[in-house]
Amino acid sequence: MTTSTGSAAAAPAHERVLSPGLEGVLAGETALSKVDGANGRLTYRGYRIGDLVEHGTYSSVANLLWTGDWDPEARLATSAVPDAVLTTLRALPRSAKPMDALRTAVSAWGATQTLDWPPTPEQARALTSFSPSALAAFARIREGKDIVEPDPSLNLVEGFLYQLTGETPEPATARALDAYFIVGAEHGFNASTFTARVITSTMSDIASAIAGAIGTMKGPLHGGAPSEVVDQLAKMGSVEHAEEWLRGALDRGERLMGFGHRVYRAYDPRAAALRKVAEGMEHKPDWLQTAIGVEDMALRLLAERHPDRPLKTNVEYYAAPVLMGVGLTPDLFPATFSLARHAGWTAHVLEQAADNRLIRPDVRYVGEAERDLPG
Ligand code: ACO
Repeated sequence: MTTSTGSAAAAPAHERVLSPGLEGVLAGETALSKVDGANGRLTYRGYRIGDLVEHGTYSSVANLLWTGDWDPEARLATSAVPDAVLTTLRALPRSAKPMDALRTAVSAWGATQTLDWPPTPEQARALTSFSPSALAAFARIREGKDIVEPDPSLNLVEGFLYQLTGETPEPATARALDAYFIVGAEHGFNASTFTARVITSTMSDIASAIAGAIGTMKGPLHGGAPSEVVDQLAKMGSVEHAEEWLRGALDRGERLMGFGHRVYRAYDPRAAALRKVAEGMEHKPDWLQTAIGVEDMALRLLAERHPDRPLKTNVEYYAAPVLMGVGLTPDLFPATFSLARHAGWTAHVLEQAADNRLIRPDVRYVGEAERDLPG
């Protein structure tokens, strides 16, 4: 591959191609995941996402991302929340958004740790094990409930549900959420991952990188919209009323939630994996059949409106029934997505640190020409 280093060799800014949003710009290399948008394929270290969901666990996938080794027996459990972090979470307003609480918790956790450079797989593991406990603790604190201590005999996803509800989850429920965590674990150079890599490139620590990534994922253009999928399906009511509602929404210029993607031009392979999980769930939401019926109709109408721009089902469409089916409230969806993405974010931190170069692009100046101060 051709690598350009150093702005000294670059042409003046006004002669160079500007790419707003860095779209199409190659800003690095990764061995972690391959997002093949044209063909609707996703692999983690070469392994197909569908196979990982079927045969792996989130613990084994996180281990794969961190180390490159496939160990189906790899174990990861939740860890205790340090007192200083609990004090911080208790000081937050109960109305705080779970994403704000999680970002704050990660930042406070960083202040309680010695996080020397370079970041290590142990640091990645410690942070990934901490965050589910912190989110569960905040969810209980805001309801005036006692926090639940981690049970080290449970895997990370079971432990998260246990600390959230105080009850050991049914295996099928934990397995469904585990599948969601696997599909959410990693996805190339998306905005939050890129943020984590920029922060790491300054030789800052892993907690700062992940706090920044959570802040980035909080934005509505990134954090996903599974709760809006639920809202839209509720507005349609039934498959019989769906076509009229969908046509009306498209006429008003509204977006159909759970469809379209910046990279995928084919069916999002994560949606395919989660549809299977949703259909196999014991406690699936009663609107799942409506969602399945509406999907084909929505795809047909989107193809009619945008014959040249393939708009297919994305991961959020079937994330919605899985997250609802395991008993999470919609306001926890974005923070739960962040918990899942910890494996990928921290793996990118390790990858960036292993071959580090400060990330510092150029900007084209479009302000006033050099001039004298008035007077
Ligand atoms: N419903 C209706 N029309 C759509 C949709 C949609 N879901 N998505 C794109 N379009 C239309 C746009 O209106 C646009 O039409 P125009 O050319 O007539 O103006 C055309 O398709 C191209 O749209 P872009 O904005 O260029 O597509 P982009 O790749 O930037 O957008 C995005 C991707 C933001 C995901 C978009 O498809 C969307 O808003 N989808 C709905 C929200 C959603 O499901 N978000 C979750 C994404 S997955 C994730 O974040 C993990």
